[in-house]
Amino acid sequence: MRRAVCPGSFDPITNGHLDIIARAARLYDTVYVAVMINQAKKGLFTVDERIALIEQVTGDLGNVKVESFHGLLVDFCKQRDIPAIVKGLRAVSDFDYELQMAQMNIGLTGVETLFVPTNPAYSFLSSSLVKEVAQWGGDISHLVPPVVLDALKPKLERR
Ligand code: PNS
Repeated sequence: MRRAVCPGSFDPITNGHLDIIARAARLYDTVYVAVMINQAKKGLFTVDERIALIEQVTGDLGNVKVESFHGLLVDFCKQRDIPAIVKGLRAVSDFDYELQMAQMNIGLTGVETLFVPTNPAYSFLSSSLVKEVAQWGGDISHLVPPVVLDALKPKLERR
């Protein structure tokens, strides 16, 4: 049984995340999507809302499990016997920090990190930019799944 994890904040999930998860799901028997809880970061969506959105947009893949975790990613992996972390690399600017984390993680428990080049259509995409553009009325319909677009509207109106 080959297992991998795609970790992140997913506040909210974008088409860029979904592309990486779908590609990982073609390579592994089971892909865990780990919504990592960072109490220092106040999210727009609650963790349960993020999980519900990810479950809706990954359900058709058939081999994706979505969970939240409070702690180190390596402990999430150890508890589930996951040997590989799959991450998307958007641009060279992602590389420094991703390399640091990958080297820290392999040093901690031996878990490997595999980098997948992001689809160029999404190389500029981040959850933060999506929220900022949506907040000012910009069109983000090509950047997030339709359920995320619908979920964003009431959140941003309330602000
Ligand atoms: O979507 P993000 O916020 O860029 O994802 C970053 C994330 C959650 C993958 C990273 O911060 C992480 O792995 N956090 C879990 C805590 C941890 O293991 N920290 C040590 C990293 S070497």
